[in-house]
Amino acid sequence: MARVALVTGGTRGIGAAICKAFKSAGYTVAANYGGNDEAAQKFKAEAGIPVFKWDVSSFEACAAGIKQVEAELGPIDVLVNNAGITRDATLHRMKPEQWTAVINTNLNSLFNMCRNVIEGMRERKFGRIVNISSINGQKGQIGQTNYSAAKAGEIGFTKALAQESARVGITVNAIAPGYINTEMVQAVPKDVLEKNILPQIPVGRLGEPEEIARCVLFLAADDAGFITGSTLTANGAQYIA
Ligand code: CAA
Repeated sequence: MARVALVTGGTRGIGAAICKAFKSAGYTVAANYGGNDEAAQKFKAEAGIPVFKWDVSSFEACAAGIKQVEAELGPIDVLVNNAGITRDATLHRMKPEQWTAVINTNLNSLFNMCRNVIEGMRERKFGRIVNISSINGQKGQIGQTNYSAAKAGEIGFTKALAQESARVGITVNAIAPGYINTEMVQAVPKDVLEKNILPQIPVGRLGEPEEIARCVLFLAADDAGFITGSTLTANGAQYIA
């Protein structure tokens, strides 16, 4: 039986590349998304992967959404917590809503999602959880106190849950991508991207979503059972943690 993989924020950007890579590798894939119906329908038609809409910042919505995925596709073997947003502003200008939105969507979602799959994974004695963190959770970033805090929090969460789950066949790892060629990075002001960010990437370019998908597939594999609690960096040598 093919393993079932659920990817949050799976219809665009890095998440869409992850879903497609899982499908090519023979997994049964479910793509969660939060709001952009048009992009989700386009992704579904192109990739042939079912899409499921719910808000990962809501515990109840995650419980219901996961129940639906499991009823349609079977128990979840692999969970990729990829959904994330930015609300960039320097702290002296940041509004409480910008702080809360990023913490809820990027960090609280890990509790909301993992809490709703962990018992089943423990019973079945198999699970793979991959959390998509960020270079900016490792090094900090101007304009991203909210995002950097959430992404650093994801790494702490990963380490703790990895230790809790190690004896029951579940691995929990984080990936820390650098600047990847997605809509999120394209939303950075052009002059900041060209003047401040690109020159700091020794490889000399943005990463591609497929390069992160490759890391996810590696960590999700059945024979990756000894790799747990780690943070895999993929950032073109921009920051070496
Ligand atoms: N790296 C280095 N310097 C930066 C920077 C960055 N990423 N972002 C801003 N700066 C610098 C600016 O160049 C500017 O310097 P100068 O005064 O010398 O020109 C200074 O900081 C202040 O910036 P702004 O003039 O733009 O001030 P602002 O208040 O209008 O906007 C900002 C501030 C919201 C931080 C805006 O600059 C911005 O959006 N910067 C991009 C922040 C960023 O890197 N976000 C990452 C998004 S992608 C992502 O999050 C994915 C991932 O995981 C990597």
